[in-house]
Amino acid sequence: MTLDEVVRYHQETKHHFNRYARSLGRLDWANQPDPFRRYAGSSLIALPRLKAGDTPLYEDLYRPGAIASEPVTDRTISRFFEYSLAITAWKQAGEARWALRANPSSGNLHPTEGYLLIDGIAGFSTEPGLYHYAAKEHALELRAQWPREKFTALLKAFPPHAFLIGFSSVIWREAWKYGERAFRYCQHDAGHAIASARIAARTLGWRMLLLDGTSDDTVAALLGTDRPGDFESAEREHPDCLAVVWPADQGAGTAEGMPQQLPLSLSMDAVSDLTQLTWHGKANRLSHGDSVHWENIDRAERATWKSSTEEKSVDLAQDDSHAQPIPGAGNPPQSAYPGQPTAGQIIRQRRSALAFDGETAISSASFFAMLARVLPSADCDLCKRPMPWDVLPWEPAIHLALFVHRVDGLAPGVYMLVRDPRATDPLRRATHPHYAWTPPPGCPEDLPLYLLEEGNARQMAAQLSCHQDIAADGAFSLGMIAEFDASLARHGPWFYRRLFWETGVIGQVLYLEAEAWGVRATGIGCFFDDPVHRAIGIQDTAFQSLYHFTVGGPVEDPRLTTLAPYDSQD
Ligand SMILES: Cc1cc2nc3c(=O)[nH]c(=O)nc-3n(C[C@H](O)[C@H](O)[C@H](O)COP(=O)(O)O)c2cc1C
Repeated sequence: MTLDEVVRYHQETKHHFNRYARSLGRLDWANQPDPFRRYAGSSLIALPRLKAGDTPLYEDLYRPGAIASEPVTDRTISRFFEYSLAITAWKQAGEARWALRANPSSGNLHPTEGYLLIDGIAGFSTEPGLYHYAAKEHALELRAQWPREKFTALLKAFPPHAFLIGFSSVIWREAWKYGERAFRYCQHDAGHAIASARIAARTLGWRMLLLDGTSDDTVAALLGTDRPGDFESAEREHPDCLAVVWPADQGAGTAEGMPQQLPLSLSMDAVSDLTQLTWHGKANRLSHGDSVHWENIDRAERATWKSSTEEKSVDLAQDDSHAQPIPGAGNPPQSAYPGQPTAGQIIRQRRSALAFDGETAISSASFFAMLARVLPSADCDLCKRPMPWDVLPWEPAIHLALFVHRVDGLAPGVYMLVRDPRATDPLRRATHPHYAWTPPPGCPEDLPLYLLEEGNARQMAAQLSCHQDIAADGAFSLGMIAEFDASLARHGPWFYRRLFWETGVIGQVLYLEAEAWGVRATGIGCFFDDPVHRAIGIQDTAFQSLYHFTVGGPVEDPRLTTLAPYDSQD
């Protein structure tokens, strides 16, 4: 029973006060995986290095209709990868040097690999092809060439100029450090990558939708992760997902013959015959020695494998000018963000805080505004959801249990943000019966935020997050509470991974919001699962906390030097 196996993986990879999830218990530095995959023998095509300027205001990302679509060219594809997966800085401390990227990653191990399936475009190719994104070089590696008629057939149902992106995970990169819990972290990171790509697409006026009806076999076949000969001595990649990206203004409904509906899967006929592809390159080996094998990860991979294809489709709004405005507080008047930063500035400066000052408070207005950004407006059609929630074609299943420490005008204590009003009663029933569930003072009516219990939650927050001070020293921290049993029962065991992806998207939105409001955030994958549940009264698996997060005033580490991401920018 795969559902039982998923639940077993989840239970067995929980951290407990007296026992962490199984891992090697030490770091085998000699075997540390290379964070950069390359395909030897495939041609490397440099993407143009672009100047920093020329990006919309950060707040325009959320203003429907504010960003006109850019054409798909080598320069805009370069920008798309720069803002989603590229290196944004090198850090140096003594002899050690490491890269940080637009997308965060648990332990900075970066298991997520990015792929592009695109028709020939000026600047890098005349043929349709599958490319692997090489982050260190900011370049594309040609993995496979497609006969044009095959590629056209594959994307026939999508708007003009559409292309596909795909993600996969090198699970070993996370398992090297985190052992059995690594499969969870790979899913978090995939969620962050989905969101960073969706937001990068938005800076160019592009839409993006996860092709979530696609089976994992199809994702693997299209990305080439199922080609054992190309991974002979190399650590393999687990296929995560495919998404379609297209210029919004040139989308469906605007011209004759354009689709009104977008399928959530690819035509089986078009993907069934992949034999005409010419493949290039062999994956590099990432560790000197062998990977450590974790039976529980194999089990999770098997149990969450999506073997079904659903031929569902979604209505496609003409462009995003119809998107619902964010409720009340989340739609700040222009220039609400201090200094009116550009989207590019915020994306490039995003960092995880290594420590917080234990002093900085944020205003309740900015707190409400940040929270409003993670509301998916569950009642709306998918196409009318605010960015980036239009990328995930499922009903929201994650809610936020917040530990408020320093928000001006709000009592410190435990709060709940219910991202889908249908979950309010089940959450009330599942948590402590004495919780108050009162709207906090000044909270916009359309922000479903509730005060559960006043009190100083700092010590508890740190204790629950593996004794990490970052959960106590910020303005607020939180646990992302999933509708666990019901989601798995409704969709199937493969949805386990989606629950984590949704938490990653929430995390990415909050990372950028924190920067835009002049503070900083950090994702927290290390927390004691059941003690968190007990702290808020959850006694079974109807709801489970999957990811923690913290926001506050950062303390910089003066020992670190920051270096430019790439040698030269045009
Ligand atoms: C899923 C996830 C879990 C994380 N867990 C922790 C954590 O428990 N503690 C911590 O200090 N940082 C944590 N981080 C922050 C990462 O260490 C950080 O993203 C990584 O070092 C890259 O740095 P950057 O975010 O500045 O690019 C986490 C990040 C992610 C995405």
